[in-house]
Amino acid sequence: MIKVLFAASEAVPFIKTGGLADVIGSMPKYFDKEEVEVRVILPKYLCIKEIFRENLEYRAHFYMDLNWRTQYVGILETNYQGIHFYFIDNEFYFSGPTPYGNIYEDIEKFAFYGKAVLCAIPHLDFKPDIIHCHDWQSGLVPVFLDHFRFDNDYYRGIKTMMTIHNLKFQGRWDTKKVQDITGLAPYYFVPDKLEAYKDANYLKGGIVYADWVTTVSHTYAQEIKMPFYGEGLHGLMSAKSNHLSGILNGIDYEEYNPETDKFIAKQFGIQNFRQNKSADKISLQKELGLTVDKQTMMIGIVSRLTDQKGFDLISCVFDEMCQDAVQFVILGTGEERYENMFRHFAWKYPEKVSANIFYSEELSHKIYGSVDAFLMPSLFEPCGLSQLMSLRYGTVPIVRQTGGLKDTVEPYNEFKHTGTGFGFNNYNAHEMMGTVRNAERIYYDKKRDWNKLAENGMKQDFSWTRSAKEYQELYTKLVRGEV
Ligand code: ADP
Ligand code: GLC
Repeated sequence: MIKVLFAASEAVPFIKTGGLADVIGSMPKYFDKEEVEVRVILPKYLCIKEIFRENLEYRAHFYMDLNWRTQYVGILETNYQGIHFYFIDNEFYFSGPTPYGNIYEDIEKFAFYGKAVLCAIPHLDFKPDIIHCHDWQSGLVPVFLDHFRFDNDYYRGIKTMMTIHNLKFQGRWDTKKVQDITGLAPYYFVPDKLEAYKDANYLKGGIVYADWVTTVSHTYAQEIKMPFYGEGLHGLMSAKSNHLSGILNGIDYEEYNPETDKFIAKQFGIQNFRQNKSADKISLQKELGLTVDKQTMMIGIVSRLTDQKGFDLISCVFDEMCQDAVQFVILGTGEERYENMFRHFAWKYPEKVSANIFYSEELSHKIYGSVDAFLMPSLFEPCGLSQLMSLRYGTVPIVRQTGGLKDTVEPYNEFKHTGTGFGFNNYNAHEMMGTVRNAERIYYDKKRDWNKLAENGMKQDFSWTRSAKEYQELYTKLVRGEV
């Protein structure tokens, strides 16, 4: 049996800011326990919901040096739905109102976390064969491991894997400061190791020192070798080509199941989605105060409101799109300019636009379950989970064909009557609007094709089963030393 420890900064149901949490919280459930056991180690943030925080059990504590600082490290644990979660406790670092805050604080916070993960392992009853790190917050784990291996036999033989969920976030800070925080030797702070463009870069460190690097879709694994998507690290990604692969994310098919979803007004499956989704739509229109009409096409957006997600395209043409016979339901938080933009349009078109500028699991399920189409015109998208949730609920995604969106949504072919959604290529507002309008035309004039698209989407399988197999193959090769 291969033992894998996930080192990550968020996981459902404990703490979530984006898709990373969905991945970390759900993927471990889908391994064959006889072959691979995955456990997870997270920071114990004070902002984790109380109900979860109160049920953690104490395991051990010790003090750890972080250069000239000596810090308390507590270890707590719990078992949730058959998965073992460990939590690193330190109230100096993890007591903020959100998991991430100012970068200069986060840099020290996650240096602490990276080293604490390694120092905690001898206190667990679980010595991993592989530490699987996710995103920059755990980027220093492979670096510290390299350092530890010099004089400590215990750590020799542990392999590391680094998964990039988003290359945009790298954890960069002044080299001198990071040296002072981490106590790592100057030897690490050179351009073929941790340094990038004069700064210390946690993600780069993780990529350089990990035995294998993955990202969350095949297309994104290729894209990041190009300057446009490479966020300054495209050279490194090309150099790492032989140790880099893309494994597509899945979603939790139990959590996101239209046949059993408690949040939607009327559950449905492939047999009855045509009738029942209309009932869900009416219920959502009533709840949100939009004009109640089951015929009107409803387009949903559930997203972090950031540049990555293509909101500048939407801002260019939203007024124009609101002239059509459509309704928009937005659920999201993020940059103020986008939050205010949607508030403004909800005020201007109260029967057509509903802006919900907050976070709500419940409303997100209602939107995936009730709307006809889902708009996701991302500038870049490592994988994207929202379009997978949409497909699962017979909601037709309209996407820019980039990264994981390209790998998971097959554009409609009007002549062959095939596809699962609509796609456009160029990052251009009018190209997006043209595609939305094409979708409107199919929705209103070719209902049979539209329903076929929805049905095709529901028939796709983006559960974790297949991806977990791919990770398992990779883990096996890593422990056998084949890669
Ligand atoms: P990213 O991780 O880049 O934000 P993903 O598509 O991978 O994008 O995952 C986003 C996840 O966050 C989905 O589960 C989506 O439903 C959820 N989400 C985003 N914003 C909200 C919100 N305001 N309320 C509820 N869920 C949200
Ligand atoms: C990141 C990416 C998103 C991906 C998620 C989980 O947040 O932006 O595309 O789905 O990580 O891997």
